[in-house]
Amino acid sequence: MRLFVAVPVSEPARQQILKLLGRLRSASWPVRWVHDEGLHMTLKFFGEVGPERLDVIAEALRFAAGDAGSLALQLRELGAFPSRIRPRVLWVGVDAPPALELLQDRIERGCEAIGFPPEGAPFQPHITLGRVREGQRLPPRGLDEHAEGFERVPFVGHELVLYESVLTTSGPRYESRLTLDLGR
Ligand code: 2AM
Repeated sequence: MRLFVAVPVSEPARQQILKLLGRLRSASWPVRWVHDEGLHMTLKFFGEVGPERLDVIAEALRFAAGDAGSLALQLRELGAFPSRIRPRVLWVGVDAPPALELLQDRIERGCEAIGFPPEGAPFQPHITLGRVREGQRLPPRGLDEHAEGFERVPFVGHELVLYESVLTTSGPRYESRLTLDLGR
């Protein structure tokens, strides 16, 4: 099973992103947009994992989450990896308190101890909107046009969810395997 752990995007930020996704989808860019369900901010990607490892991963996550407390988050600007000039992955940035970085680091270290090494790239909180199809390009300044009117809505991260990414013919669907309450 393909696993990752993430903070789901709660209301009202979710509605703001859904509105944006609606506009983006009608632009007919060569992009595979994410589904409306399961908008999230990934903290750690495990990749393909044997189901027998689920328990030990859950334990590491419980320990890392501890009494982290809920996170006061806020949507930021639209952006792209590797860069806005050569966009492959389109996202909304997330403004987060130091507690998020602390939580992500605890998860990273806890998971390293059970055999999942860090990915290497520095943690950059974001919510992926879509992925540009192989070999295709976006119209220049396309993202900038959609950034207008996008509100930087605050939201609360109150859960940590271990998702399974299930591949379907219409793209990956995310199914929750474990939900941890971050507390108040
Ligand atoms: P992304 O949003 O930066 O693309 C499910 O695929 C989730 O795991 C996505 O949110 C994705 O992050 C994240 N992820 C992180 N590293 C990944 C990798 N090497 N391959 C696929 N997904 C990855």
